[in-house]
Amino acid sequence: MFELKGKTALVTGAGSGIGAAIAQLFARAGAFVAVIDKQAEHAHTVASSLKDENLSASDHCLDVTHPESCQAMVEAFQNTHGKIDLLVNNAGIGHVGTLMETTGEDLDRMYATNVRGVFNMAKAVLPDMIGAGKGNIINLASIGGVVAVRDRLAYCTTKFAVVGLTKCIALDHASEGIRCNCICPGRVETPFVKARLAEYPDPEAAYREMASTQALGRMAQPEEIASAALYLASDASAFITGTDFVIDGGWSAGK
Ligand code: NAI
Repeated sequence: MFELKGKTALVTGAGSGIGAAIAQLFARAGAFVAVIDKQAEHAHTVASSLKDENLSASDHCLDVTHPESCQAMVEAFQNTHGKIDLLVNNAGIGHVGTLMETTGEDLDRMYATNVRGVFNMAKAVLPDMIGAGKGNIINLASIGGVVAVRDRLAYCTTKFAVVGLTKCIALDHASEGIRCNCICPGRVETPFVKARLAEYPDPEAAYREMASTQALGRMAQPEEIASAALYLASDASAFITGTDFVIDGGWSAGK
């Protein structure tokens, strides 16, 4: 429905879940996709499956918490492809706990990936985007970046920060042709959530409980988040910047 022909896209955390779905949808829409993940084999598997479909992709092992590595990866990609049109900051990690159950180290670790990772990658791509007079950054925040979620203090803290980062980048760089938006999903059935469910004595009951926070009574599929990313990446959303696009099955609509 939305085209990305001739565009290049970097997608972090694309070895799994929502990132893998975004990489696939962007490639099918015509983009060259850099599948980036700290787990090299996962990035390789996703990029290979895209190439098997005759789509354009490369895989990159990168830990987004390291600013120099982000810079080096972006420079190498820029040298090969000449431009970066799109950056999707999707890599993220979770943590369960209240303030009393969260250590300072937990918070720093969450911050390093969920906030510094977004900051590092945005800082690496922005100079070239500004030079080109156009660019589009999409960040994966969370419904936990819009409303508080019980027992998720560190996670919500980082995701509220991602919403703030998004709005500041959008405001500061709009006049230079840059758009920046974030997506705030409710619960999405990915390895991230499945691993959490597996920790419960009755995973099916835990699924029903987690799904019940959403008015639609189920979790989203990764493709349902990827389609929003494709819309934000495409020219169909040309007038949208600085927004937090909530896709939560009605979670935040009220009780
Ligand atoms: P996932 O765990 O299935 O995939 C995340 C990927 O990011 C993994 O492949 C992991 O190796 C990679 N990654 C983690 N840290 C990294 C780092 N430092 N550098 C590079 N890659 C790294 O997760 P999922 O569920 O697909 O989540 C993706 C994003 O969406 C995250 O930012 C998450 O917070 C957000 N989100 C997820 C929701 C859900 O219910 N699954 C709900 C709301 C937001």
